[in-house]
Amino acid sequence: MKFGKTGESVPIIGYGTWRLGGGWWRPDRSKDLDAIEAISHAIEEGSTFVDTAEAYGGGHTEELVGRALESLEASIRGKVFIATKVDKEHLTPDQVMRSCEGSLRRLGVRQIDLLQIHWPNPNIPISDTMKAFEQLVDSGKVRYVGVSNFTSKQVEAAQSEMRKYEVQSNQVSYSMANRSPEADVLPYCKRNGLTVIAYSPLARGELPAVFNSLPVLEQLCRRKAVTASQLALCWLSAKGNVLSIPKAATLEHIDENIAAGDLELNHDEIELIDRALSQKGSNP
Ligand SMILES: NC(=O)c1ccc[n+]([C@@H]2O[C@H](COP(=O)([O-])OP(=O)(O)OC[C@H]3O[C@@H](n4cnc5c(N)ncnc54)[C@H](OP(=O)(O)O)[C@@H]3O)[C@@H](O)[C@H]2O)c1
Repeated sequence: MKFGKTGESVPIIGYGTWRLGGGWWRPDRSKDLDAIEAISHAIEEGSTFVDTAEAYGGGHTEELVGRALESLEASIRGKVFIATKVDKEHLTPDQVMRSCEGSLRRLGVRQIDLLQIHWPNPNIPISDTMKAFEQLVDSGKVRYVGVSNFTSKQVEAAQSEMRKYEVQSNQVSYSMANRSPEADVLPYCKRNGLTVIAYSPLARGELPAVFNSLPVLEQLCRRKAVTASQLALCWLSAKGNVLSIPKAATLEHIDENIAAGDLELNHDEIELIDRALSQKGSNP
């Protein structure tokens, strides 16, 4: 798919790294080799859009992404699109600069493809933050600007403070269990050419609960010979400008998720799923 208005091609199934290498601002080094193998495998199999954040593992997750990049052949490494995030407590101009330098160092790259504001922070003027982001693009340290967990009004406010560059994406929680982006974020992004990056697209492991209560979805999986996770990812892709970033630590899950990028749903199948989810109370 095309990413925002950049003209760049990115895979419709990316790769999320939250909880590889630790939790929120807390590193865990006990499974580093497994995590590096998982990240490298995802990239080699085609999930070249890798999402991370300075907060994940307190920076350790970015280090693992960096080590995975290092382990790849240069031709594959060159195809990777790295998306990372500045924490909501680091949104003053000086903090944004320091945060970006830290991410570049830990990732071991000279340029970040997409730098996102992780969460909005009403205590920091958005004009200050966006000016810092513009400077980072000017300096070549960042290629594209994105936001996360923003309403469309907040995206508009961020955009209005940037003169030279456009906000290319809004990363939000979007899955069969949480269709709230369909009410506001998704239509706004479609109208304005932004990509919606769907985080927690597998509902953080809660999909079995959704499917168990909706036999019609299980029947559809059987008919199409796909798994519940694949149907969930394929349904998100069918919504248009949605790039999903499932996190998977096991190689089997990674392969299963990437294969969902080749599946398609027709109009009737999408309607069937939407209707079933609404019956279960999952509405836009
Ligand atoms: N911007 C934000 O505020 C924000 C917030 C949350 C997440 N994110 C991003 O979004 C990414 C994904 O979200 P998430 O990690 O919250 O949840 P998720 O991707 O919805 O779910 C991850 C869980 O699903 C399991 N899984 C993966 N593939 C599977 C498959 N094919 N079959 C069965 N289970 C499967 C994983 O297990 P295994 O790991 O054991 O394979 C893991 O337990 C994060 O990693 C992060 O990059 C961003």
